[in-house]
Amino acid sequence: GEAMCELPKDKSDKVDWKAVRADICKLLEDDKYEKEPPGPVLVRLAWHASGTYDSATKTGGSNGATMRFTPESTDGANAGLHIARNMLAPIKDKYPNVSLADLWIFAGVTAIEEMGGPSIEFRPGRTDAPDASTVPPNGRLPDADKGQPNSTCQHIRDIFGRMGFNDQEMVALSGAHALGRCHTDRSGYWGPWTRAPTTFSNEYFRLLMEEKWSPKKTHEGKKWTGPLQYEDPTGELMMLPSDIALIQDKEFKRWVEVYAKDEDRFFKDFARAFKKLTELGVSFPEDDNILVKLKKLVLG
Ligand code: HEM
Repeated sequence: GEAMCELPKDKSDKVDWKAVRADICKLLEDDKYEKEPPGPVLVRLAWHASGTYDSATKTGGSNGATMRFTPESTDGANAGLHIARNMLAPIKDKYPNVSLADLWIFAGVTAIEEMGGPSIEFRPGRTDAPDASTVPPNGRLPDADKGQPNSTCQHIRDIFGRMGFNDQEMVALSGAHALGRCHTDRSGYWGPWTRAPTTFSNEYFRLLMEEKWSPKKTHEGKKWTGPLQYEDPTGELMMLPSDIALIQDKEFKRWVEVYAKDEDRFFKDFARAFKKLTELGVSFPEDDNILVKLKKLVLG
């Protein structure tokens, strides 16, 4: 018979996700962005939308798409992400049944896959907060430098520990810096981590292990006046203090070595950690299913 009290369904089951994906792919390949393809900044949007989660208070996270509101939209860590949000606005308009919260994550997942990364299971079900009442406070996203290597390592563990991640997952997630670049007008840092910043690979870990990294001194013939960052001998590639921290800490470095040698392992661990990251604080209807709960309990 009819269920006595059916859960209110969100509108995401009326969405043609294949069509949404095709439109995201069109965006990823749009000539308008030839100079700097959208993939990496879309991945950063999905990460920063999710990375505010606090497991103690169960606040923050990708549910709600709260980065539309202040103060989150003005958090220094989110500088430049309006560019990514604006790119996705026409797709939201075309598919009104897709929540922005789902779209931001789906765009990140699609970008990773289209740039050659692992496939990541995507589940819709996030809803958009109607107002700013659930916006998390600023300062929940990581800083790239806390002065001393051990303070930076502690900071990474504090921030990602707050979300519920272990050392291995922290290192795996950091591998996303194979993609994209730093912008002096966003974070103050400059340059790409790898020579193929629109290819998802384990290159970030290989470079961390194999290159000689030294503090950047000059930029385009002049003295570098930006924050401390590291460069390779060519001066073309960069690492943040928080990237270098991963080879200054024994436990972190263990995983950098594993992922530098084994790209399949990196892809597998990254896919799992990125799904976890982007689902923090989101409740999916299927999670209420007793069989799913039991399976989780047994398999972890
Ligand atoms: C870019 C810091 C972890 C993905 C950046 C930038 C900074 C930064 C400073 C440059 C922003 C700009 O100037 O445009 C950090 C720190 C982290 C961290 C301190 C942790 C300790 C992550 C994680 C991911 C990620 C976990 C994803 C799983 C990206 C991507 C970009 C980026 C894809 C490139 C964006 C673009 O090209 O526009 N990050 N990040 N980052 N980050 Fe991270």
